[in-house]
Amino acid sequence: MRTAMAIRPILTAEAPILRERTKRVSRFDASLHRLLDDMLETMRDAPGVGLAANQIGVPLQVAIIEVDDKITELVNPQIVRTAGEQIDWEGCLSLPGYVAEVGRYEKVTVKARDRHGREFRTRGTELFGRALQHEIDHLNGTLYIDHLESLDELVRVHESEEVEEQTAAGI
Ligand code: CO
Repeated sequence: MRTAMAIRPILTAEAPILRERTKRVSRFDASLHRLLDDMLETMRDAPGVGLAANQIGVPLQVAIIEVDDKITELVNPQIVRTAGEQIDWEGCLSLPGYVAEVGRYEKVTVKARDRHGREFRTRGTELFGRALQHEIDHLNGTLYIDHLESLDELVRVHESEEVEEQTAAGI
C-alpha cells in the first residue's frame, strides 16, 4: 500500500535524541525516500529552511535544506572545507520563538550522498552555508545555543526587528 507524505511532529530542545550523534545511512531504500519526503513536508509546514532527521525522532545522518526554492537532500553529510567567518541571526525549529547571533564559517564545502547513494559536493555561503553547518551540527547532537557564551544572548523573535523572517523561521 502506498501512503502519502506525512507531517511528523518536530521535537524540541529537551528531547534527548537531539543531543545524540546520529548513525550513518547504509541502505538507500524506500524507507529513506519516505523519510526524506516526510522531512520536506514537515519542514515546509513548520515553516523552516532546514530540518535534520533526529528533529523528528529518527537517529540517522539525514538532513534537508530549502533555500531560494532549491531543495538539497543530504545523506551522511560531512564538511570537507571551510573559509572565513560570518555572524548572523539564527533560529531553530526545535527552539521555537527564539533567535541569536551565531558565528559560523562564511563558506563551507560539504560532501554527502543523495537519496540514491550517489556522492556529491555542494558549496554554501550566506543562509545556505549557515543551514549546512546548522544541520550537520544537529546530526552530531549539537544545537546552535551551544555556540553561544550564554543563553542570555537568546532574543525572542518578535522583539528583534533586525531578524529576517526567513532566518527567524528556523533551520
Ligand atoms: Co535546527
